[in-house]
Amino acid sequence: MKLDIDFVRSQFDQLNDNPEFVFASNAGGSYVCNQANQVLEHYNRHTRVQPYSRFSPSADAGAAMDRAHQGWAAALNIDPDELTIGPSTSMNTYVMAQAIGDLWMPGDEIIVTNQDHEANSGVWRRKAYEKGATIRQWEVEPDSGLLDIESLLPLLRDNTRWVFFTHCSNIVGTANPVAEITSAIKANSSARVFVDAVAYAPHHVSDLKALAVDAYAFSLYKVFGPHQGLMYVNRDIHGDLTSQAHYFNSGIPTKDFNPAGPQHAQVAGCAGVLDYFDALHRHHFGDSDGSRNSRLDDIHRLILQHENELAEPILDFLNNRPELRLLGKSHTRDNDRAPTIAFRPLEQSAESLTHSLQDSGIGTEHGNFYAHRLITDLGIDPDDGVVRLSLVHYGNQDDVNRILQALERALG
Ligand SMILES: Cc1ncc(COP(=O)(O)O)c(C=O)c1O
Repeated sequence: MKLDIDFVRSQFDQLNDNPEFVFASNAGGSYVCNQANQVLEHYNRHTRVQPYSRFSPSADAGAAMDRAHQGWAAALNIDPDELTIGPSTSMNTYVMAQAIGDLWMPGDEIIVTNQDHEANSGVWRRKAYEKGATIRQWEVEPDSGLLDIESLLPLLRDNTRWVFFTHCSNIVGTANPVAEITSAIKANSSARVFVDAVAYAPHHVSDLKALAVDAYAFSLYKVFGPHQGLMYVNRDIHGDLTSQAHYFNSGIPTKDFNPAGPQHAQVAGCAGVLDYFDALHRHHFGDSDGSRNSRLDDIHRLILQHENELAEPILDFLNNRPELRLLGKSHTRDNDRAPTIAFRPLEQSAESLTHSLQDSGIGTEHGNFYAHRLITDLGIDPDDGVVRLSLVHYGNQDDVNRILQALERALG
């Protein structure tokens, strides 16, 4: 069975309203599915009052927020108490740096990478520095930008407290084997694991118990939904973290790591993404009694195959051009390559190539995409950076053809 791309595209009005250009900046933020817009609109029109009281719009507002919270917990195969819905991943990691790092002291060690977006790097480094803890860096292979588990193992010590890494870099687009890495970390240390999945979740919503990580964060505005950050924190470690909530809310798991308070309509709107996934599943597989997470797995198989078909011709093209340096894997055959494709032009600036592509109707961008350390360590000027073409499952072969033609035109 193949993904019915026409059905997929019919669920995104924004796609159909903007046919004149190919949206190839999805890693910066995706289009919002119609279902999420419907939930948001309904919330704002009918239930926009302080939620969780007994009068009807308020009760409905609370129920709409609970539906999103419980639905996403089920999607991730976690307990609702383990899910925080905060303003963004950067804000969630900032808060977690206080919750996790307040207890660090000299002698403690943490491991961060130079592959991550700064949201999963700077906050931990700053906190460790403040507390006198040692920061070790798990470094990418300097040509490809890929991380190798073999170079992580020697960094682990008895006093390593946390390891922070990404499920998938927003530049090299290649997924790190999180379950394998986490199990190696646990086998060799007592360290805990925090994973940034912002660049991975748009392609696959994971079963977090299967990954066995301690904490995991991603942003729903890149997963076809409202601008919210979803974060899992394993219940077993809540007691070891300092609550960041008002003192009278301390100990309430969904408040402990969200001092901002919930953004009511946006939280409710998160359920719309699950409504979209349900519609996608029903369209392809009919009615199902499977768990939410297993339904997402079914969809993921279709999405993976489709995304591989989108990425492969672009990777092939780029890899065969000597005037370009392609980052990450040059193929999708390992099924771990998201269609987030970054490359460095060697004979012109990333800016000028990006402008040419934009002039040909490709909505793409260039820069360091806040993976400043990675771009710098790959020997690339972080201001000009790389050109990034990022697609998700609603892209089609016509988009790919238009991208290839635009590249031909821009490169001559
Ligand atoms: C890989 C990655 N991590 C973290 C973030 C930060 O997410 P947010 O914008 O929700 O703070 C981004 C944003 O682009 C990202 O691409």
